[in-house]
Amino acid sequence: MAKTVETLRWRKGRLELLDQTVLPEKVVYRPLTSARETAAGIRDMLVRGAPAIGVTAAFGMALAAGQSSGLKPAAFRREMARAGKVLAASRPTAVNLFWALERMGRLLEENADLPPADLAKMVEEEALEILREDIEINRTMGRNGAALIDDGDVVLTHCNAGALATAGYGTALGVIRAAWEAGKKISVIADETRPRCQGARLTAWELSREGIPVSVIADTAAGSFLRRGIVKKVVVGADRIASNGDVANKIGTYQVALAARANNVPFYVAAPVSTIDFDLKSGDEIPIEERHPSEVTHPGGRRLTPPGVTALNPAFDVTPSKYVTAIITEKGIVRKPFRRAIAQLRPPRR
Ligand code: MRU
Repeated sequence: MAKTVETLRWRKGRLELLDQTVLPEKVVYRPLTSARETAAGIRDMLVRGAPAIGVTAAFGMALAAGQSSGLKPAAFRREMARAGKVLAASRPTAVNLFWALERMGRLLEENADLPPADLAKMVEEEALEILREDIEINRTMGRNGAALIDDGDVVLTHCNAGALATAGYGTALGVIRAAWEAGKKISVIADETRPRCQGARLTAWELSREGIPVSVIADTAAGSFLRRGIVKKVVVGADRIASNGDVANKIGTYQVALAARANNVPFYVAAPVSTIDFDLKSGDEIPIEERHPSEVTHPGGRRLTPPGVTALNPAFDVTPSKYVTAIITEKGIVRKPFRRAIAQLRPPRR
């Protein structure tokens, strides 16, 4: 079996991102040397997917720390705060970004008495640890979720919640991978996921190179495949989950959840605990990124709409928890009532 792809890698103090904007035509790693470049890489979606964005931001902080390690402590602190701000402004919805930045902020605060050179080393080590943990968490989540998938299932997924959306292995696709690795003969239907086509370009690419059967459908076909009983399970990822179990994920997820419910098909969300925003009461509080209209009006750079006509382009939607059958995490499978079950996952406050 082909090794799962490396979404990002750390080479001699330099961050290299697999440029997902040119997949599947080209496999190119782009070197990044500063927090500012890293923020641009996230904003322009060279890297995307909630956990991958979090890990990338952690390395953005490591780049800033490395560049500032020769400064006096006060100047070092200022540079790190600036880097955190720039990275935090890159994309608003995936909470993993803010989770990673807060984790770095805590580390710096708790060790504020150390010299900048030692802190820089520590921040680099922490970023590498976040990357290692992410892969480990995905593998555990995959094993937990694989139990929900039966031999012979056709599984529908939306967007890309795979190795490419994480440091490796994937969340929703981690569940699919684990079921496949356990010998279950499953196949995948990937929604193409307009406007950026993460399903058609990325999910199809990473599954097919590992020999996992996958077919791409137009987003508009998902309801029909669910109604005809072809799809047995839906598994998607998440960008942010509120404390009541409402799920923000790629635009179009809500429609899939509605069609799944109408046809009694289980709708599963696979996400690490770092995707849960315990401070939010409901999905209504989740900030939804609005991206440039040209992603809709000019797919592939070619005009689709009449001149002068613009588009609305929310990047995510919220699926109310009542449509979610279960949330698959590294800590186990969470079922209704979600508020209580999610509260039990909250890490101890420090
Ligand atoms: O805009 P994107 O490509 O970053 O959106 C990604 C998604 O919506 C994924 O489903 C989500 O981040 C889960 S990734 C494991």
